[in-house]
Amino acid sequence: MESTPNTVPVPARRVCTLTVLLCVCPLCCQASWMLLGADGPDHRWSRDGGCRSLPLSARQREVCRKRSFLAPSIVDAARLALGECQNQFRHERWNCSAGPDPALFGQQLTSGTKETAFVYAVMAAGLVHAVTRFCSRGNVSECGCDARLQGPAEAWHWGGCSDHVQYGTWFSRRFLAHAAVNASAGTRAHALLRMSQHNSEAGRQAVATTMSTDCRCHGVSGSCAVKTCWRTMAPFGRVGAYLKERYEGGVRLKRKEPRAPDKHRLVFISKSPNYCLEDRRGGVLGTRGRRCNRTSGGPDGCKLLCCGRGYDTRVERHVRRCACKFVWCCYVRCRRCESMSDAHACK
Ligand SMILES: *[C@@H]1O[C@H](CO)[C@@H](O)[C@H](O)[C@H]1NC(C)=O
Ligand SMILES: *[C@@H]1O[C@H](CO)[C@@H](O)[C@H](O)[C@H]1NC(C)=O
Ligand SMILES: *[C@@H]1O[C@H](CO)[C@@H](O)[C@H](O)[C@H]1NC(C)=O
Ligand SMILES: *[C@@H]1O[C@H](CO)[C@@H](O)[C@H](O)[C@H]1NC(C)=O
Repeated sequence: MESTPNTVPVPARRVCTLTVLLCVCPLCCQASWMLLGADGPDHRWSRDGGCRSLPLSARQREVCRKRSFLAPSIVDAARLALGECQNQFRHERWNCSAGPDPALFGQQLTSGTKETAFVYAVMAAGLVHAVTRFCSRGNVSECGCDARLQGPAEAWHWGGCSDHVQYGTWFSRRFLAHAAVNASAGTRAHALLRMSQHNSEAGRQAVATTMSTDCRCHGVSGSCAVKTCWRTMAPFGRVGAYLKERYEGGVRLKRKEPRAPDKHRLVFISKSPNYCLEDRRGGVLGTRGRRCNRTSGGPDGCKLLCCGRGYDTRVERHVRRCACKFVWCCYVRCRRCESMSDAHACK
């Protein structure tokens, strides 16, 4: 019998399709790397194919090629960020879905809404996080721990490995630096570019802002005669939650904004649709078929999620192991317990 390989290589044609679909506008082409985070119906992007195998813009490919040891981190970043986006929005009408049609995701990236803002912020933050995390492992000579945080501080010593978030930030900026928009492009293209740059930077700042100082005591029976501390990034879920709050307090940019917006805020230029009904041209999937919670008053409640269209109910059967007992000697015997519950889905 033939053995099946664990990783199926992505056919080159598929990569092209994705890239072409997303390259209808300059901004989208720069964003196609985000799809590395989406598991397609028949593939999962390989971390180890090198820069050439990734759906990158020409500029990004060049940046990647110069630091090719970071190619797997770019894939990690997209997975981390897209997964966190879907986690933060799992109960909302817009759920950060990136599949199965990549063109839909492309639409979301140019709609200029609050949701677009969140996507750019979380993706830029994901790059900072994944690259910095990789460097902290100390496996390459090109990057590592934060060398400035070594030696005596106030009442303690800097020690261990402080995450060198500046390096990740630097790479995220390089990788996502947008080529200048053609001067003949419309004002909307310029506004979109400004918006995406601002939100990407807000995302990077979020990783720096949520960092903390961890310490460890040394000395006779925990006397803490010597204390060493290091700076560490928050788990990415915390960065996502922080950005979700910034999303909720997002500011809509006026045509002629007199002042630059606060760098920690997310900004957007277009009002969001209500995301209730499918609108493929607008990049909206709609909420039909989404599971909802009949008793919740929150966004996951059937009333809000289904936009007043009502919902279908079906009975779900759950089987689990229960009443487990340890039997001498040595195994565990369980019973099978069945339970029923109602599942609701939007009409
Ligand atoms: C470090 O790099 C070596 C060689 O590339 C690899 O075999 C090893 O798994 C890496 N270790 C980590 C922790 O990434
Ligand atoms: C800008 O776009 C116009 C028309 O799309 C094109 O003719 C021109 O060469 C472009 N300029 C640059 C600098 O790319
Ligand atoms: C998002 O919602 C769509 C339907 O509106 C659904 O098909 C998709 O599986 C959901 N995605 C996630 C990640 O929950
Ligand atoms: C539905 O919402 C209620 C109230 O918020 C909550 O207590 C319950 O756990 C939710 N049920 C499910 C299946 O998520």
